[in-house]
Amino acid sequence: TTGDVTLDVGFVNTAACKSAITYIDGDAGILRYRGYPIEQLAESSSFLETSYLLIYGELPTAEQLSAFDSRLRRHTLLVEDMKNFFDGFPRDAHPMSVLASGVAALGTFYQDSHDPYDPEAVETQTFRLMAKLPTIAAYAFRKSQGRSLLYPNNDYNLVENFLWMTFGQPTEPFDLDPDLAKALDLLFILHADHEQNCSTSTVRLVGSSEADLFASISAGIQALSGPLHGGANSAVLSMLNKIKSEGGDVAEFVRKVKNKEDGVKLMGFGHRVYKNYDPRATIVKKTAHEMFEKRAASNPLLELAMELEATALEDDYFVERKLYPNVDFYTGLIYESMGFPSDMFTVLFAIGRLPGWIAQYREMINDPATKIGRPRQVYTGSAERSFVPVDERG
Ligand code: SDX
Repeated sequence: TTGDVTLDVGFVNTAACKSAITYIDGDAGILRYRGYPIEQLAESSSFLETSYLLIYGELPTAEQLSAFDSRLRRHTLLVEDMKNFFDGFPRDAHPMSVLASGVAALGTFYQDSHDPYDPEAVETQTFRLMAKLPTIAAYAFRKSQGRSLLYPNNDYNLVENFLWMTFGQPTEPFDLDPDLAKALDLLFILHADHEQNCSTSTVRLVGSSEADLFASISAGIQALSGPLHGGANSAVLSMLNKIKSEGGDVAEFVRKVKNKEDGVKLMGFGHRVYKNYDPRATIVKKTAHEMFEKRAASNPLLELAMELEATALEDDYFVERKLYPNVDFYTGLIYESMGFPSDMFTVLFAIGRLPGWIAQYREMINDPATKIGRPRQVYTGSAERSFVPVDERG
């Protein structure tokens, strides 16, 4: 027994660390940031306010939120030389690779303290990352489209600025869609933290070596890019388009999944922790409907996704395995309707998850009891044996 968790040798199942940031009850489908239910934050908060809550542990007063917002606006610009960095990538470089490299490169432009135990240094890195990561993300997209890079406009808040730098035209006034900004703000709230998932554990593990925040977040972005983790939102859209291109036969697709034909999975379904409906998926599904209703745009892929969900939720194969829609099942449909290409979906996930990664890094570096440190293993290899010279090997 390690602390309050039993080490079950059959399947190594131990708590990675202690944390006071996010609480999940996978069986009940509960998610809370610093004790606040995700449903209430989704309904009443903003991404900036939720970011403040995750990082500092309390909801900000109006004055604290205003100071947080205005300090972030002063950090959105990249060092001019960083622009050359984007020229080094091929046009078809995946934006997640550019984002991870860009965040690692960001640290090289600042010679002030990288000491993880210097609170002022970590605070400065926190603001630089929160403000500049969306700029790097927007530039990764613009370079892939062969379009000019737009300076941030600090009349906008973080989410609006990201939309300006992504979709704006240097020669035209920007027609910011408030509904789109609001929907993206909500999606960022839903992605802001999620306990010890793959990418957050990566940030903690890298940071536990006293690597600085830039290096740890860059590693987290790489972990998030995998299709079983943050890459699932793009994989869902590919799955829906494939079903549609093959005639839209949902029953046939579900049959293939159940028979594990070609290793095909129902992407956007299942979760390591939720063995019930992911509470974020409920909110995302509602947002998808509102988005499409408002735009009077029927989306055949949304209809297909809903038919796929309904079919799976009535099928014993999925019910017995407690496979329900997770946060990624509907997000891709919304991002696509916003005008993002699918290789940007996981980049959007990273922008949303950044405050959670930062909060978890800061908790880990300030409290050894919350460090993952060095995980152990259950050894399943050969017992001790003696060396055999090569000419005596059979
Ligand atoms: C995220 O951890 C987090 O919090 C992550 C995240 C976050 O916010 O950070 O929530 C974000 O990563 C969400 C998950 C996104 N990934 C996907 O949607 C990819 C598809 N999902 C699966 O790969 C899978 O469900 C996992 C990896 C997410 C979870 O796997 P589990 O719960 O550990 O289940 P398992 O791999 O042990 O499989 C159990 C059974 C197996 O069948 P049997 O061997 O018992 O016959 O369920 C089957 C699996 O084949 N199964 C699926 C399935 N997921 C599991 N079968 C079909 N489709 C699926 N999606």
